[in-house]
Amino acid sequence: MKPDIERVLFSEEDLHKVAQRLGKQLSVDYADKNPLVICVLKGAILFMTDLVREMDIPLEIDFMDVSSYGDGTVSSGEVRILKDLDTSVFQRNVLIVEDIVDTGRTLSYLMKLLKTREAKSIKICTLMDKQDRRVMNVKADYIGFEVPNEFVVGYGLDYAQHYRNLPYIGVLKPEIYENK
Ligand code: PRP
Ligand code: MN
Ligand code: MG
Repeated sequence: MKPDIERVLFSEEDLHKVAQRLGKQLSVDYADKNPLVICVLKGAILFMTDLVREMDIPLEIDFMDVSSYGDGTVSSGEVRILKDLDTSVFQRNVLIVEDIVDTGRTLSYLMKLLKTREAKSIKICTLMDKQDRRVMNVKADYIGFEVPNEFVVGYGLDYAQHYRNLPYIGVLKPEIYENK
């Protein structure tokens, strides 16, 4: 384990199992729907690639980069589009894939945007749900794990852009982000 990590919350095996469970369910729910699976960069990238490998149905993937955080731990409350989709969502069954729902600002913004673009359906699949921190009224349709209000990193999730490449999800030691 890296010294900056206090403890492992979800191991590689846990993550593999959850991708299998959700992928199986999504394969049933989206059979014959040719979903457009949207990865919200950058945090969702690792989960997304594992998830779609567990979906043995026709689907398309696309990427969108929106950011609500700076390099700190506190949300700025502001959502910006850094990279838009290449694909039109008009009349498409859209599945948004996220690593974590925290305040819900990112997803609330995305849902509103995709609705104005007239998607046929919009659902959310998130690896983790941090319900305690919710500010906006957002509910994920598919949830991997409910997580407590701790600073989690790894498997796509960063602190100051680092730790995304850890193969597991860990709790960051408070001294790493305190007094910064
Ligand atoms: C993080 C995380 C979610 C979002 C959740 O992304 O990956 O996308 O914040 O927070 P919210 O529910 O309060 O909006 P971030 O904006 O840090 O960008 P990143 O994915 O590139 O790290
Ligand atoms: Mn993100
Ligand atoms: Mg981030």
